[in-house]
Formats: sequence, C-alpha cells, structure tokens
Amino acid sequence: HTLAPIPVPPRHPQYGHLHYLAGDAPVLNFAQLAGQFPEGLFQLDLQGRTFIQAYDPDLVAELTDERRFQKRIHPSYTNVRHLGGDGLFTADSDEANWGKAHRILLPAFSQRAMKGYFGQMLEVAQNLVGKWERTVGQDLRVADDMTRLTLDTISLSGFDYRFRSFEGDELHPFLQALARAMQHTMAMNSRPPVLTPEMEEADRAYWADIAAMNDLVDEVIRGRREHGGGGQDLLGLMLNATDPETGERLSDENIRYQVMTFLIAGHETTSGLLAFTLYLLLRHPHVLAQAYAEVDRLLPGDAVPTYDTVMKLDVIPRILDEALRFWSTIPNYAVTALRDEVIGGRYEIKAGQQVALLIPALHRHPGAWKNPDEFDIDRWTPENRRTHHPAAYKPFGNGMRACIGRQFALTEAKLALLLILQRFALTDPYDYRLKVKQSLTIKPEDFVIRVRERRPHE
Ligand code: HEM
Repeated sequence: HTLAPIPVPPRHPQYGHLHYLAGDAPVLNFAQLAGQFPEGLFQLDLQGRTFIQAYDPDLVAELTDERRFQKRIHPSYTNVRHLGGDGLFTADSDEANWGKAHRILLPAFSQRAMKGYFGQMLEVAQNLVGKWERTVGQDLRVADDMTRLTLDTISLSGFDYRFRSFEGDELHPFLQALARAMQHTMAMNSRPPVLTPEMEEADRAYWADIAAMNDLVDEVIRGRREHGGGGQDLLGLMLNATDPETGERLSDENIRYQVMTFLIAGHETTSGLLAFTLYLLLRHPHVLAQAYAEVDRLLPGDAVPTYDTVMKLDVIPRILDEALRFWSTIPNYAVTALRDEVIGGRYEIKAGQQVALLIPALHRHPGAWKNPDEFDIDRWTPENRRTHHPAAYKPFGNGMRACIGRQFALTEAKLALLLILQRFALTDPYDYRLKVKQSLTIKPEDFVIRVRERRPHE
C-alpha cells in the first residue's frame, strides 16, 4: 500500500477543532465538512482524542465488515451507561449480558411478533388522532406529540404500562427528566476536566433525574411481579425466559437496564422519524397526495385498520424509507478496528481506533445516489432498491448490533401515518423552516402544524 494521511479540516487558532461541535446539531457541521473532503473521510482532534468520520460508501462497506470492525463501547463513553448500563444498546458484544439478552429478546422483535403488539399500537395511535380531533385548528407541536405517541406505544406494548401522555398538556415527568439527562450527557462529553460549581450543580440535578427515572422503571417491574410476573410482552419475556445457550435468566438489575433502554431507544428515534416525515410530506405535496390516495383505497371512510392493512401499504413504507435516508434520527454511530487496518487501500486505522459513520453524508453521497437532495420515494420500489450501493443506506446500524426494534418502529410509524392521513388535512401555518436539533438523536425543532378534519372524499 501507499499510505495517505486522513484529511484534517482547518483548525481554528484558538479552539482547534472544538468549534465544529458548536451549534444545535454538530452532526450537520460534520456533514458540511464532508462536502469539502471528497476523499470520503476526515479526522478531527478533540481534547487529545482522534475522531474519524467516514461517509464514502466504499469505505463504509469496509467499515461495516464485522470481521474487521465492530461496535465497541469506548471507555471514555462511560456516561452513556449511566442510564442504559449493560442493556442491549450500551453493552459490549463480549459482555455476557449482551448475548443473553439478544438471544432472549430477538424473537420478540420479529415481523411476526408485531402482530401481537398491534392492538396496543392501535390504541395509542387512536389516542393521538383523538387528541388532534379535540384540537383541530390549534397549534400542534409535532415532535412533542410524536414523542407522546412513541413513548406510550413502547411502554404499553412492551411493559403493559400506561403513561397516558395524551391526557395532559405537559410532557410526562419521565420525558422531561429524560430530555434534561440527554442534554447533560452531551454536555459532559465536551467539557473540561475541572468542574465549575455550576457544573457540579448540574451534575446533582442529572443524578436526581436518573434516580427518578429508575424509580418509575422499578415500579413497572414491581407492579408486574405483584401480578404474578407473567405475560407475553417484553417484560414478561425478560422475567421468565431462559437463554437457550446458557439456560440462565436475566438478573433484576439487567432487566431494569433493558426496560430503560427500550423506553429510550424505543421512542426518541421513532418520534423523530415521524416528525421529519410530516415535515417532508408538507414540503412535497405530490408525495402527500400519493399517500392520501393509498390511505383512501385501503381505509375508506371510518374503517379501522388491521395488521393486514399495514402489511398492504406500499407508498407509506417508501415515504418512511426515504425520510430515513434524508434524516436518519441516529445520524452518527461508530465502529472500532479489531486490529491494525488499512481502508480504501490507503488510510491507516490503528487497532482500537473508533471510526464514526457520518450517516447524513453517506445517505446523500453523490457517488451512490442520483440527485441526492431530491426527496424521491421511487428510489424504494423493489426494482430500484436492487440498484443501490450495498453500503449507502445504514439508518438502523450494522450487523449483529443493528437495531433490534426496526420492525417495531416501522410498524408503529406506518400505523400512525395511516390514521393521521385518514382523518386530517395538514397545514403549515408558520411556513416552518427546518431547524434540526441534536441530542442523542436528531429532531426538527419548534415544528408546529395545524390540522383540520378531512371531509369525506376530499
Ligand atoms: C440499535 C436506529 C427504533 C431499540 C440501533 C442502532 C441504530 C438504531 C442506528 C445501532 C446503534 C449503534 O450502532 O450504536 C434506530 C432508528 C429507529 C429505531 C432510526 C426508528 C426509526 C428503535 C425501537 C427500539 C429500538 C423502536 C425498541 C423498541 C434498539 C436497541 C438497539 C438499537 C435495543 C441496540 C441493539 C443491540 O446492540 O443489541 N437503533 N432505532 N430502536 N435499537 Fe434502534
């Protein structure tokens, strides 16, 4: 090999690369940098650590080869485990509890298993449209309502717990604590080692928020135990099933971490997807019209959808696929080199070095996508799907550490869109200009719409 250095963006004389972390959505600063480095990767040096971002689809094809690179929970990311512990998302693949929980829970997330959650998903989606019917003509904060929907859906289908988020005007205290904790986790990542009194104060509030969330999760688990601990849902499975490989059950501590993980991973991402999707539909009326036509064909009048209705959808799934290409709600996740590697035939990656996949730049890479900035759902017809670069679309992670909740998220999102479009015409009263806000996931911030009820055959 002739090795080449990994491109390094210009440094600020005072801040070095730190200013690339500024603003509401650092990942979009990175995506902008990607436009300046056609090599397909670049390197930032932040507080003595090297951060590599990669987005060329050929490089990503190498980086997603699990024989060479895998997800690792980097030691300096310990604060991501404050909430999730050794739950599926934040465990290392070689921790015993990852394999155990993965084997126990995988069947509960198969496409077939979704049929079992359909009744709960429908109940919550009906609560959403019920709320919107009561507030026709008023401002609706989209991200908040989608968060209510997805939190209530995972908690009801997974744990038979009702947050009843649509009954109050305020977000549930759990959600408020979670939002604050997420912000704080981000802040902890980029602050200097010596803490000011303000930071110490913020840390105390953070631990109090985490304790309050743990209390709620413990209450959910205790409640189930008091009712005999049975049930076919995720919680019932975790309390009762044994790992086919070791014959062991999950520990109480690990079940708490899993419940917390599902509550967090199971709602942030999907609510962001739905909010971006409504934004994109309002920007692309011809696509919205196709969606209405599909909904009216499959769900005329007041018909109530069944699981089969959702399985028959064609336009709405393609809208979601394309929305996830445009705005993947987990826009940046990393793999680690198992040993010294060379990628692209010339870039050296040392053993243990993390490389982040920069999804916004990958998903709009000009080498992989024709007219990448065009919202085109026909990319996702069965024929066109086959022509895509195999590593150019990675919204749900990779390999054995890919998203376990993918079918859950997509089923829930399809059903929510189906009910929304059956009932409502959407308007954008403030001519919203997209403002992306990043915490652990990304969302359109301050996106407000109004709805009115559709007249029959509109
Ligand atoms: C993992 C995306 C919905 C549970 C992941 C990863 C991504 C992702 C990118 C891999 C992260 C990494 O490599 O570090 C998404 C998106 C969603 C979504 C875009 C919605 C549109 C859900 C839902 C659930 C869920 C609804 C649960 C019901 C998980 C879990 C993991 C995971 C537990 C860790 C899996 C493991 O490593 O064993 N997700 N996710 N996700 N997701 Fe999702």
